Amino acid sequence: MGYNEVYDRSIADPEGFWLDEADKIDWVQKPSKALFDDNAPIYEWFSDGLVNTCWNAVDRHVEAGHGAQAAIIHDSPVTGTKHRISYAQLRSRVARLAGALRAKGVDKGDRVIIYMPMVPEALEAMLACARIGAVHSVVFGGFAAHELAVRIDDCTPKAIIAASGGIEPGRVVHYKPLLDGAIEQAAHKPDFCVIFQREEEVAKLIEGRDYDWHAFQYGVEPAECVPVEGNHPAYILYTSGTTGAPKGVVRPTGGHLVALNWTMKNIYNVDPGEVFWAASDVGWVVGHSYICYGPLIHGNTTIVFEGKPVGTPDAGTFWRVISEHKVKSFFTAPTALRAIKRDDPEARELQNYDISCLRALYLAGERADPDTINWAADKMGVPVYDHWWQTETGWTIAGNPAGVEALSVKVGSPTVAMPGYDVQILDEGGHEVPAGTLGAIAVKLPLPPGTLPTLWNAEDRYRKSYLTTFPGYYETGDAGMKDEDGYLWIMARTDDVINVAGHRLSTGAMEEVLASHPDVAECAVIGVSDTLKGQAPVGFVCLTKGVNRPHAEVTAECVKLVRDQIGPVAAFKLAVVVDRLPKTRSGKILRAIMVKIADSQDYKMPATIDDPAILDEVKEALQGIGLAK
Ligand code: COA
Ligand code: AMP
Repeated sequence: MGYNEVYDRSIADPEGFWLDEADKIDWVQKPSKALFDDNAPIYEWFSDGLVNTCWNAVDRHVEAGHGAQAAIIHDSPVTGTKHRISYAQLRSRVARLAGALRAKGVDKGDRVIIYMPMVPEALEAMLACARIGAVHSVVFGGFAAHELAVRIDDCTPKAIIAASGGIEPGRVVHYKPLLDGAIEQAAHKPDFCVIFQREEEVAKLIEGRDYDWHAFQYGVEPAECVPVEGNHPAYILYTSGTTGAPKGVVRPTGGHLVALNWTMKNIYNVDPGEVFWAASDVGWVVGHSYICYGPLIHGNTTIVFEGKPVGTPDAGTFWRVISEHKVKSFFTAPTALRAIKRDDPEARELQNYDISCLRALYLAGERADPDTINWAADKMGVPVYDHWWQTETGWTIAGNPAGVEALSVKVGSPTVAMPGYDVQILDEGGHEVPAGTLGAIAVKLPLPPGTLPTLWNAEDRYRKSYLTTFPGYYETGDAGMKDEDGYLWIMARTDDVINVAGHRLSTGAMEEVLASHPDVAECAVIGVSDTLKGQAPVGFVCLTKGVNRPHAEVTAECVKLVRDQIGPVAAFKLAVVVDRLPKTRSGKILRAIMVKIADSQDYKMPATIDDPAILDEVKEALQGIGLAK
């Protein structure tokens, strides 16, 4: 069957299509049907089945005789170590950790926060939660204490599993003080913490609250897999929205298993036993779906890479990992390739490695610019497949189904809609627009299995954020178009979310932090074009009347404040002081025009602007920091 038949069947007969795919998963009790639509527009899949994620990701491969196969390869240039964990070892490690959590009172449905760097223990912690039906929420290591505190208060975890530290090039990230600070700030207190001590950073434990990872597991009874309902939350993953409060995306267990399993062959074109590598971080959705769950559910070997595309130690690291571990399909963010291309434009490092094992490169997380795609295709000699998805969906909305049928690549387009996604381009009134016309990208409900059914403890927010603008559709927050061949083109966000080095960030959250500075009366944050990271945030602050301090002092404090409150991942390094912000007569800040000025693009003066002269002030301030040429 080619792509068209597969896709058409998924839309015409979703029950049949997804029940067939569900057969490839081990159920304790098979679901009676696929779609549960009694509570539409809130949809669920496989709700009455009974299943366990850890069984499907680990135990079933051991039972099938693949216990000796590597499940995880940890390759860590920052610590100079590499090691392999087989499926059999993974099962006993996860069962023991799960047993220890259970012995301390963690049960089905309890939440557990995981705050760890790129070590296999992060995956083991995720799988241990899944084994006992606990709901994990992984928090990215580049977030500061405040962001962690917000997540603790939102999902009220019984336990937090953290590492003592992470290693960034040139510095150790001290996780423990961040964790302690977060617990102090949060109103909710976890019952206990489990700390994985790293050789590079041994943290001081708080007696009675913190347990050492190894000591904690000593002598416990390993836990068996606990069956959970198909609609039981597998995990919560927070992502940026328009405001400072992150959205807790809920991932349902049954759909997650079925959909990810489908993608491994049909999109990433790997067979069980082959090596798959996603160079991302467990803190992001890519890490959840394609470092941890997808490859393991499908019986692949996954690589946990603790390093950067450049500087650990050089721009050849990715090629080394691919050749050394015989990677078949490789997934990264365009920004990582831009970093390599900047350091090694001729890809001379590639001459030192044989990457003929590689079949294809997959890019996602941000818009893949044609220069990067063409460079990668040329130097690496493999097809480069852009694919578009979001934390909310957990897997590809639009991609190139290479395992079904490799469609011709149109550089700049992530190709076509994947099964179950009825993607439409809508105008403001919610009507589909003709091919080639820009509009809001929406997906006709229901979304396919594995996608979010709701937000954690915030169904109203879920409805308002995604289901209200276009009744009967899921609003993606992206704008773009479809061409005559049905290929999608993703052009921009329709909200205040920006994408910095493949990391999704909220300018609203940064504005909330800037507004908390005592000398700041008003502020705006925009995302400007950045040749390496895609976008970079720039803050504009207006000072409180009477404040007469050097501007550089205030902006330096603003930069520090965002780093301390949100974390280094915000990459907030540029702020300027302006007298006023450009606004419409009704008081709306003209952020889109500020972006155009910063990016030295032409813009149309809006008829509703309050005072056009302010735009000159904005331009001058931006020129002071090397923008708006
Ligand atoms: N823990 C703690 N801090 C972290 C971190 C982590 N897990 N990840 C990043 N940071 C810090 C970095 O050290 C950096 O701090 P600095 O301001 O002190 O230099 C800051 O957060 C910004 O990080 P980043 O945006 O990643 O930039 P970088 O300069 O470290 O590296 C790239 C630039 C392009 C090489 C890098 O961004 C990259 O490879 N990104 C991959 C993108 C990716 O995997 N995205 C996931 C979606 S698929
Ligand atoms: P995240 O939830 O962090 O994965 O971010 C999702 C957002 O990143 C999407 O809504 C897009 O705005 C952007 N994005 C992800 N992948 C792509 C892609 N392939 N092309 C364009 N934008 C992308």
